[in-house]
Amino acid sequence: MLRAAGASGLALLAPPWFWRSSVFAASVIDQVHLQFGDDPATTTVVSWATSGVVNNPRVLYGPASSTPEQTVDADTSTYTDSASGTQVVVHHATLSRLQPNTAYAYSITHDGASPVQAAFTTPPQGRRKFRFTAFGDQAGGTTGFLGTPYGTAVVAQVEALQPSFHLVCGDLCYADTARSEVQDRAAIWNSWFNLNQPSSMNRPWMPSLGNHEVEKGNGALGYTSYLARYRLPDNGRADFKGQWYAFTVGSVRFIATDNNDVVYSTDFNFPVRGYSSAAQLRWLERELALARSNPDIDWIVVFVHFPVMSSAGGADLGVRQTFQPLWDRYGVDLVLTGHSHDYERMYLTRGVEPGSATLQPHVVDTALDNLDTTKGAMHVVVGTGGVGIPTPTYGTDATTQRPDASVTNDSGGTTSEPAPYSAVRLPQYLYGFVSVDVDPGTAPGGTTALQLTYYPTSLAGAPTAADTFTLRKPRRDAPTPVAPAVIPATAAAPTVTSPAAALPNTTPAAGSQTAAAAAATALAGAALIGRRRSTRPYPAPASTPGSAPDEAAASLPR
Ligand SMILES: [Fe+2]
Repeated sequence: MLRAAGASGLALLAPPWFWRSSVFAASVIDQVHLQFGDDPATTTVVSWATSGVVNNPRVLYGPASSTPEQTVDADTSTYTDSASGTQVVVHHATLSRLQPNTAYAYSITHDGASPVQAAFTTPPQGRRKFRFTAFGDQAGGTTGFLGTPYGTAVVAQVEALQPSFHLVCGDLCYADTARSEVQDRAAIWNSWFNLNQPSSMNRPWMPSLGNHEVEKGNGALGYTSYLARYRLPDNGRADFKGQWYAFTVGSVRFIATDNNDVVYSTDFNFPVRGYSSAAQLRWLERELALARSNPDIDWIVVFVHFPVMSSAGGADLGVRQTFQPLWDRYGVDLVLTGHSHDYERMYLTRGVEPGSATLQPHVVDTALDNLDTTKGAMHVVVGTGGVGIPTPTYGTDATTQRPDASVTNDSGGTTSEPAPYSAVRLPQYLYGFVSVDVDPGTAPGGTTALQLTYYPTSLAGAPTAADTFTLRKPRRDAPTPVAPAVIPATAAAPTVTSPAAALPNTTPAAGSQTAAAAAATALAGAALIGRRRSTRPYPAPASTPGSAPDEAAASLPR
């Protein structure tokens, strides 16, 4: 009899709150991930998804040593994937006025939900030791889209090192490459966030945009999925919110830019080059100038997708024309990138080789360890997160037998150049991540250091370091006068001749245009170019993760 009463009987009798609660209770909380707020030491954003709209999404939180007593309401973002019609519901709650270097517990819930609980520790303020990790190009893990078992294993191995946060250097889940008739892009994103939740619910995973975040039909730039799912530090531009940003942990300024805005690569659902009309460059120059004039900032670390250098291909002239001169001018110390699916680190570089049509970076030091980044920047490619598309097909000059590289040029094709900048390549370890330990030193005027280690992801047991080196430099709180904020590029960078002459490789004379404005000339007329990516079917994931690269890999999407 009770069964016979059925849902229709309940519908007639139940008050409105009953139905609301019943429907909401069916929405499971998942895809939990943290991001830093504007001040990482005091603000953390908790984000998650539910399968439908819910009532009163919120986070209870407090110091881990006590029962969470504070509550903050979440705001909800929804979007509908244009290909599948799937609605995505994500929530963001900003936990503010936190104490630095303090453990917090939190509980995510909504009306009728089964709460999800986790904990995190805010990073330190000021000159304190901390660790961060990084990789790009992960994709879906063991059973996920374009994934490998390495993409799954790496999550626990990052988590085991207990970094303060993790950086994702673009190309997150590759949902843009899905064929809508068999793969739902929204489901691929959902799966990717759940893959990483065991770590990202405990510490921020801070992303930057890659070419595979551009999704056809999902917004003017294809960024709807990415932007709805993240709540990133403010960049002062409501129209470009979340697309580039910066944050400070300890004495390090971290900068994420969107180099989809500047690259010539055609490996896109559709091109977006030039979309910000150089607004991003202007922001970057201001950001770099502020960081370099701040005596509390010793290090500037950039994490982006497309590399400046890669002897496995994938470097892009557009980055060399725009971001790279600014990074050189303001003495960026470390550039972490993805796109090439391998690990490669370079010698220290600054400026470009005279007369180089590809703006080939100039090597300033061929030492492999104890590197002084006041001489030049360290670039590391770490597109080794786990995607099952190997790309490390290294070039070799037929005459000299020395490494060479191909650079995407302003026609979207490639131009070869010598690659004397390539210092370490590890094609035997196609999957892994970088861990960086920041040591601020002990006294004003002393030395601060970053120790970088590449850990190949292990499918059995803890990973073993395959490459490690140290960057050093003087602290900027020296009791003696602080070094000039702007590095005179002429001191280290050779004079650039055509076609780089118009680029900002030299300090501008008083009253002349800014470096960003000069770089913007390289983008002038770069209204969204009409090239399309190849219509060639997307390849199946590698059947044997970690297998040797094949010849065709060089031309595969990255
Ligand atoms: Fe890429």
